[in-house]
Amino acid sequence: MEPNQQVFDEDVSVFTDMALMPAERITLRRLAPRINEIEMLDLGVGTGRTSWTFAPLVKRYVGLDYSPRMAEAARKRLENEPNVEVLLGDARDLTSIEGDFDFILFSFNAIDAASPEGRLEILDQVHAKLKPRGLFQFSTHNLGTLPFDTRRPLSPRFGNMRAYRLYALGAGIRYAQRIRKINRSLDLTAARQRGWVVIPSMSHNFRIQDYYIDPQFQVEQLHEHGFDLVAMLDQNGRKVTLPHSSRDPWFDCLCTPTVT
Ligand SMILES: C[S@@+](CC[C@H](N)C(=O)[O-])C[C@H]1O[C@@H](n2cnc3c(N)ncnc32)[C@H](O)[C@@H]1O
Repeated sequence: MEPNQQVFDEDVSVFTDMALMPAERITLRRLAPRINEIEMLDLGVGTGRTSWTFAPLVKRYVGLDYSPRMAEAARKRLENEPNVEVLLGDARDLTSIEGDFDFILFSFNAIDAASPEGRLEILDQVHAKLKPRGLFQFSTHNLGTLPFDTRRPLSPRFGNMRAYRLYALGAGIRYAQRIRKINRSLDLTAARQRGWVVIPSMSHNFRIQDYYIDPQFQVEQLHEHGFDLVAMLDQNGRKVTLPHSSRDPWFDCLCTPTVT
C-alpha cells in the first residue's frame, strides 16, 4: 500500500460520524426533486458516512475505496440496502466500473491524499464516468489556511471538563511545536505562485501528506480537465465568491462537464 492509503486503512475506527456536512446537505437538496432517478458513485466512501443518507434514496449507489478495511466497514453498514455495491478500488482508475453516473462524490478532502499527478488522473477518470449533465462534488484543503494556526482546537464535546483541559494544555504544547516545524518548512511564496502545495496535514495526526490548493487555481485546474464550476461552498455550506480569502481549512466544489 502507498503511505496515505496505509494510514486510512489503519484509522478505520476514527470514522464513526454518519452526518452529512453542510455542503453535502445543500447538494442533497439540489438533487432531491429527482433523487430516485440518480445513479451515484461515492469515491473514498470510507465507513459509509455519506452512503448512510444517499444510498437508500438513489436508484443505483456504488461506493469505492482503496482501503480494504474501509470498504469492508461500508459494506457491512449497507448490507441491507438494495441497489448498493461497495467496491475495492482506486479512484485513479475507474475503468472497471460499469455504466456512468449522474452524481459523483469524493468527500472529506479525500482527493487531497492523491499525489499531484494522481489528482489530475482522478479528475479525468471522473470526467469519463459522468453523464453529460452530471455533477461532481469534492472537498479540498484551502491553501489560504496556511500557515497553520499553532493553537490546537479544543474538542467541543469535552472542552469544559477540567481533566480534558489539563490534558489539552500538554497536548497543545506538543501540537504547537509540530505545527511550527511544518510552517517553517513551507515555502508559501512558491506555493502561492504554483497554486498548491503538499504537506503533512493535521488530520490523522500529521501522518497523511495532503494537497492544499488555492480556490481560484482550483477553478482553473477544473477547466483544464473539462469541468465548469457550478458552485464553491464554504464549511457552512455558504456560496463562496472568488477571490476567496478565507482561512477555512477546506471548501467544496460542485462542478459539471463543460458543454462543448
Ligand atoms: C477522509 S476519509 C473520508 C471517508 C468518507 N468519504 C467520509 O466523508 O466520511 C477518506 C477515504 O478515502 C479513501 N481514499 C483516499 N484516496 C483514495 C483513492 N485514490 N481511491 C479510493 N479511495 C481513496 C480512504 O481510504 C478513506 O477511506
